[in-house]
Amino acid sequence: MFKDKPEETGGLGSVYRHRVAVPRPGKRSERLLVIFTFCLVVFYMVGGFERVIPKIPESVRLERHMNTGQTLHPYKAVKSSIDWGKVKPRYPSKRPPIPLPTASEGIALPQIQHSFGRVSREDQKKRDERRRAVRNLTIKSWSAYRKYSWKKDALLPLSAAGKDQFSGWAATLVDSLDTLWIMGLREEFDEAVAAVAEIDFANSSSPLINIFETNIRYLGGLLAAYDLSKRDVLLQKATELGDLIHAGFDTPTRMPVDNINLLSVKSSEGQLIEPQVVSASPGTLSLELTRLSQLTGNPKYYSAIARVNSLFSVSQNKTLLPGLFPMYISLWGPKPNVISGTTFTLGGGADSMYEYFPKLSQLLNGAEPTLISLAHNFLTSASANLFFRPMIPDSSSNDILISGTANILPNLDDKKNSFDLSPETEHLTCFIGGTYALAGRLFSTRRYLETGAKLTRGCVYMYKSFPTGLMPERLTMLPCPSTDSSLSAGCKWNQTLWEATQKQPGLPKGFVSVTDRRYILRPEAIESVFYMWRITGEPEWQEAAWDMFVAVAEGAFAKETGGGASVKDVTVDPSKEEIRRDDEMESFWIAETLKYFYLVFSPPDLISLDKYVLNTEAHPFLRPVP
Ligand SMILES: *[C@@H]1O[C@H](CO)[C@@H](O)[C@H](O)[C@H]1NC(C)=O
Ligand SMILES: *[C@@H]1O[C@H](CO)[C@@H](O)[C@H](O)[C@H]1NC(C)=O
Ligand SMILES: *[C@@H]1O[C@H](CO)[C@@H](O)[C@H](O)[C@H]1NC(C)=O
Ligand SMILES: *[C@@H]1O[C@H](CO)[C@@H](O)[C@H](O)[C@H]1NC(C)=O
Repeated sequence: MFKDKPEETGGLGSVYRHRVAVPRPGKRSERLLVIFTFCLVVFYMVGGFERVIPKIPESVRLERHMNTGQTLHPYKAVKSSIDWGKVKPRYPSKRPPIPLPTASEGIALPQIQHSFGRVSREDQKKRDERRRAVRNLTIKSWSAYRKYSWKKDALLPLSAAGKDQFSGWAATLVDSLDTLWIMGLREEFDEAVAAVAEIDFANSSSPLINIFETNIRYLGGLLAAYDLSKRDVLLQKATELGDLIHAGFDTPTRMPVDNINLLSVKSSEGQLIEPQVVSASPGTLSLELTRLSQLTGNPKYYSAIARVNSLFSVSQNKTLLPGLFPMYISLWGPKPNVISGTTFTLGGGADSMYEYFPKLSQLLNGAEPTLISLAHNFLTSASANLFFRPMIPDSSSNDILISGTANILPNLDDKKNSFDLSPETEHLTCFIGGTYALAGRLFSTRRYLETGAKLTRGCVYMYKSFPTGLMPERLTMLPCPSTDSSLSAGCKWNQTLWEATQKQPGLPKGFVSVTDRRYILRPEAIESVFYMWRITGEPEWQEAAWDMFVAVAEGAFAKETGGGASVKDVTVDPSKEEIRRDDEMESFWIAETLKYFYLVFSPPDLISLDKYVLNTEAHPFLRPVP
């Protein structure tokens, strides 16, 4: 019986065997030996060894595997052909830089993650199997990218080719770096780092650089890969690119542009600010620029973005929906205006701006009180104004919330604005459950955590409702008169009402219309499920994640290449009609979607939320500790 034990208990097995082999024991010692042996067996069966000699944590094991020894792909770091940090700005800042708060200026943050106990062998086995399935699918997608679109921005998963859409700096490659690291793919990671070493951030496939995408995908990807692997070339490349993004602030008011004009940077002409931009564009630069300042010790990146946050801070209570910012703002002219827009949403256009308020306070260890109030005010206002309870047939077992879109019509006559909440939502809003859950822990506010759970369940519900198991990109539901769950009697399913409101035939009950039927490999729902799992430790979230993974793996797999492909219509029943796909694999498929699935089924010390802050592209930044 002992023969097969040693393998499972590792080093302990050989120690034990040695003791058994005592030569010619006497009667007494033989009996003792039997008793001793028996005790060891019992100890083993109740898992005693694992308690006395804890297993090496996954994160430590992985660090050894990924970071020790020589790289498997030697490279020579090539500097970008222009050093953007040396180009003279047209509008140098006249004010002294805003200093970067140090970790010791912060406060002790509460524990974010649930205190996970031991996992039963059965659960462990199930979890490992699921994790392997996610890793397998990721390897297939990465191999397809490598084979058909190496160093291109994106893979075309049906036609087995590549395309450039974000300056041609290999967006998918940079975006995938930390996923490869986290999944322990050493060979693939080293090869990708060698490719990064040659990127020229002065040679773009298009003359305009989108500041938002470049920041979250490229800069975020480089910083996280550096934080995990400590390969110097990654920080060097991050700094080269960070200097280009910093040049996007070369405007008279030092507010950033949405699109950086490369030629104007080269010739020190200054940047032309757009009359109107979505608030997420300037609102989603802060985590990356702050981390770059923390890592390089150069405060200029943080200083640039701290000015934008000051503008948000002084304007937050003056908007048409105080606490929230309109989707469209204007940073143009001498007086930037972030208050007069009339549309409010947590979806596309605004989403990650909100996400970054609590996350930046976490990255700064709570050292910046204005960020904490930006976070509290938006969380309170969104709860009160943007969420609705949908009318669904099984509402008693589904206490869920959906995030809608508010429109304010200023009424100058009686000075009371009219408010309209449209029950239209989109997949992009599904990140918000995770943000509430994180804020709930970060600010020790139970209410936020509860709201986060309801919002996340709402997204899980929308996935489950469609025959593919996937949520469409954009849809409308039938709202209940009240969001208060204690009034469930007031939200009884009304078939007549639903039939009268329904705009398209054949939709699941509760859904009024689906205005965009695609699933484009988006991560936001599994992102929130990941936060809920790591924060509460409740098994419901792992189960929800698995159902979603099975649906995603089935719906999005492109047999042409092995890559992931957008699904054209998630409302079509795959048992009756073949799933149709689009020739598109966005870089966030490997960077975010597959990474979040993998992390849900990994030991929770891997990318612990107590150590890392994840940017809006799922890139983990190490938080400096006081
Ligand atoms: C993962 O892939 C390997 C090799 O292709 C295969 O043997 C294994 O069964 C797969 N595991 C899962 C869980 O899909
Ligand atoms: C810029 O990149 C393109 C595409 O990778 C390449 O063909 C070209 O030679 C590069 N130009 C310079 C000046 O390096
Ligand atoms: C904004 O409004 C909130 C809620 O009414 C309030 O708590 C906060 O102090 C206000 N902030 C400012 C800067 O006026
Ligand atoms: C259901 O909705 C219809 C149409 O709006 C309405 O006439 C009816 O009174 C509702 N039934 C109940 C039980 O609320």
